[in-house]
Amino acid sequence: MTEELIHRPGLKNVVAADSAICFIDGEQGVLRYRGYDIQELAEHSTFEETAYLLHYGELPAREELERFSDELRTQRALPEGALAVLRELPPESPPMDVLRTVTSVLAHFDPEAPDDSEEANRRKSARLIARFPTILAAFHRLREGRDPLPPKEDLSHAANFLYMLSGDPPDELSARVFDVCLVLHADHGFNASTFSARVTASTLSDIYSAITSAVGTLKGPLHGGANIRVLEMLQEIGSVERVREHVEGMIARKERIWGLGHRVYKTKDPRAFALEKLIVELARVRGESPLYRIAREVEKVGTELLGGKGIYPNVDFYSAVVYDMLGIPHDLFTPIFAVSRVAGWTAHVVEQYRANVLMRPRAQYTGPDRREYVPLEQR
Ligand code: COA
Repeated sequence: MTEELIHRPGLKNVVAADSAICFIDGEQGVLRYRGYDIQELAEHSTFEETAYLLHYGELPAREELERFSDELRTQRALPEGALAVLRELPPESPPMDVLRTVTSVLAHFDPEAPDDSEEANRRKSARLIARFPTILAAFHRLREGRDPLPPKEDLSHAANFLYMLSGDPPDELSARVFDVCLVLHADHGFNASTFSARVTASTLSDIYSAITSAVGTLKGPLHGGANIRVLEMLQEIGSVERVREHVEGMIARKERIWGLGHRVYKTKDPRAFALEKLIVELARVRGESPLYRIAREVEKVGTELLGGKGIYPNVDFYSAVVYDMLGIPHDLFTPIFAVSRVAGWTAHVVEQYRANVLMRPRAQYTGPDRREYVPLEQR
């Protein structure tokens, strides 16, 4: 029996599996993790609590949160073998490549790597979540010719990352703003990197392989790599006065305005509103960011010219400005996305294993019809 083939380039609007983790309404601009609105989580939750919620489906009771936070806290340090690999990598390596490589390396130093039970996968998830910040901070310090700092167990996940990067414990506002950024980026349904993790998991390959696939997928500028492009674009525009001419020029040349447009949202991304609030809070203490003024003008002109096509700011548009205001090195913007999203990726991988179906679409063949083989001497 021949089954009917459905041709949807880019799998647009194709539902590939059930998932109880994340709800998105792209028309109304709604995003919920496990039923909780993202705006409420941004206001009241922490990254640790959100990661627990994504994994276990419920907000933790105090003791559950303490146990989970302790698990993360105590797993932050990298195995010596992973540190040795970090020391060998060329200092000019793109940090996303470093993260991809070291994610894979971690499997070699995890005695539980071959254990595919759900309990072991939860523990491996916690280790991955705990260690992503350590990998990046260690690489950043090594490339600056400094020794990596051991993680501080008395700091939150967000604060410890900022500490390990700079060497100074962050002020309260920076730690909280960064924590909210981690909450906002922690999951987003079947985005390309999560899907890629689930495709790998669907072959019953291991969780380290799945997360390595995800990091590689997030790197691309149409996905997580957009935030650094946004920053470069805003810097290139340079002033509010130049925005219209620049944006019109990009559209005329059929270029993408970085940070605008989304496969699912046809309105402004709800996370962009939350990020703007953070920018305003930071500006109250540190003064306004000139990049924010340019970004707002890009949003205004972009909406005027592209809003008819449902193109509005996505999460990467304002996250670039927030990270810049926090003084984070620019080439760490995309890896920071991974520091947060690894919570969602791992939750999705565990969910995939629970009700696994091999992910394997078909291609529309567009090559030549059958032809006779021509021996080498006759070609
Ligand atoms: N700037 C200018 N035009 C854009 C655009 C952007 N950022 N995003 C989409 N478009 C246009 C396309 O040119 C296309 O126009 P056309 O129909 O006249 O050919 C139309 O909108 C649909 O775009 P398409 O690429 O088919 O939609 P998609 O669902 O595949 O794209 C993105 C989604 C995210 C890949 C796309 O919006 C994009 O490239 N954005 C910039 C990169 C970015 O910020 N990525 C981060 C996403 S969170």
